Amino acid sequence: MSEEIKKGLLGIVVDETTVSHVVPELSALTYRGYKVQDLCDKCEFEEVAYLVLHGELPSKKQLNKFIREERSNRKLSKTIIKNIQQMPKNAHPMDVVRTCVSLMSLEDKDTKDNSQKSNMQKALRIFAQTPTAVAAYFRTRKGKKIISPSKKLSFSENFFKMMFNKIPDKEIVRAFDISLILYAEHSFNVSTFTARTITSSLSDLHGAITGAIASLKGPLHGGANEAVMHMMKEIGKPEKAKSWIENALAKKKVIMGFGHRVYRTGDSRVPTMKHYMFKVAKLLNKNKYPKIYEILEREMLSKKNIHPNVDFPCGPTYYMMGIDIDFYTPIFVMSRITGWSAHIMEQHASNKLIRPLSKYKGEQVREVMLLNQR
Ligand code: SDX
Repeated sequence: MSEEIKKGLLGIVVDETTVSHVVPELSALTYRGYKVQDLCDKCEFEEVAYLVLHGELPSKKQLNKFIREERSNRKLSKTIIKNIQQMPKNAHPMDVVRTCVSLMSLEDKDTKDNSQKSNMQKALRIFAQTPTAVAAYFRTRKGKKIISPSKKLSFSENFFKMMFNKIPDKEIVRAFDISLILYAEHSFNVSTFTARTITSSLSDLHGAITGAIASLKGPLHGGANEAVMHMMKEIGKPEKAKSWIENALAKKKVIMGFGHRVYRTGDSRVPTMKHYMFKVAKLLNKNKYPKIYEILEREMLSKKNIHPNVDFPCGPTYYMMGIDIDFYTPIFVMSRITGWSAHIMEQHASNKLIRPLSKYKGEQVREVMLLNQR
C-alpha cells in the first residue's frame, strides 16, 4: 500500500455530494445547482435554508410551512435558559453555543434516531433555537434581560430583536440576510468534514453539529471573521493600514481573512458581501473600516497575489451593525447549521466509516521495563 502523505488531505476527493459545488476555475459556488449570487439576488435566507436542507427551492406553500415550523421552534427550554444565565460571563460565545447544542441533545426526543425524517426535524429545531441561545448569552453577559423570540418576525429580524430589542433599517437586515445566505454551505470544509466524520461512526446529528461548531471556531476557519476585526481594530486608521501590512508580511504573519484552500483566484462570495459591506457603511455613515479593507485587499493582491475570503467583508459588516466581535462566528454557526445538517443526512444515506491511515514515525517496537527499572 502506498504511504504517500497528503497532509491536510490536500487535493484528496473523499466522497460525492449533491449539496454544493465549488468551481474554482470559474470562481463560482452553487448550492444544489443554483449560483449563490443568483440566490442572493432573488431569495430570502429562509428560502436558501430550505434549499440547502431539502435539495429544492420551496414552493410558496412549502416555504410557509417551513417558516411556520421554524418560528414555532424558536423557544429554548427553561433548563437551557437557566444554564445560559449561569455560564461564565467571560466565556467565548462559540463555547456557549457549542454547549447549548449539546444541551439540546439531552432534551430532544429523537436524539438517537438517525432516520432522514428525524434528522430533518432535529436540524430544524437546532436551526430555530440556536439564534435564541446566541442572543440570550449576548444579553445575559451584558446584564440585560433575555428577550423571547417572536413568531411574527423573519429569521434575521427576530435575531436583531432578541439581541438589541430593536430591528434596524430594512437594508441592514438584508445585508445580514445576505451574509447568512453566503455562510450557509461550502462543501467539504473543515467543520463539514468534521460533521461527516462524526456521522460516519453512525453517531447522531446533535453530536456531529456540536463537533462541527468546535471545528468552526478556529481562526483558520470560521473564527477568521473575528480575527479580521481584531486585526482591523489594531490597525486603527486607514493611514496606518499600508505600513501595518508591509510590516506584518515582512514578519511572515498570516493575514486573517485572506487565502483559501480551494479558491486561488478569489472567493466567489466576496464581491457580493463586499457590496453589502459598503451599503451598510453608507447607510450608517461609517467609512473607516471599509477604507482599511480596500487598502489591505490592494496590498495583499499586489504583494502576495492572495485574495480575501468571505470572512474579510463579514467582519467589518457585523462590526458596523454593532455586534460584539466574539459573536461573529456564532452567527456563522446559525447559518451553517443548514449545510452541516444536509451533509450529515447525505452521509447517513450513503455511509462509509471515515478512517484514514497514517505513516508511523515513532519508536520501533521496544521492551516494557518494569516501573522500578525505569
Ligand atoms: C473559511 O474551506 C472552506 O470552505 C472554508 C470556508 C467555508 O465557507 O467553510 O470558506 C470558511 O474557513 C475561510 C478561511 C478563513 N481563514 C483565514 O482567513 C485565515 C487566513 N488564511 C490562511 O491561513 C490560509 O489561506 C487558509 C487556512 C485559509 C488556507 O490554507 P492552505 O490551503 O493550507 O494554504 P497555506 O496556508 O499552505 O498557504 C499557501 C501559501 C503559503 O505560502 P508558501 O509557504 O507557499 O510560500 O500562501 C500563503 C502561505 O504562507 N498564504 C498566506 C495567507 N494565506 C495563504 N500568507 C499570508 N496570509 C494569508 N492569509
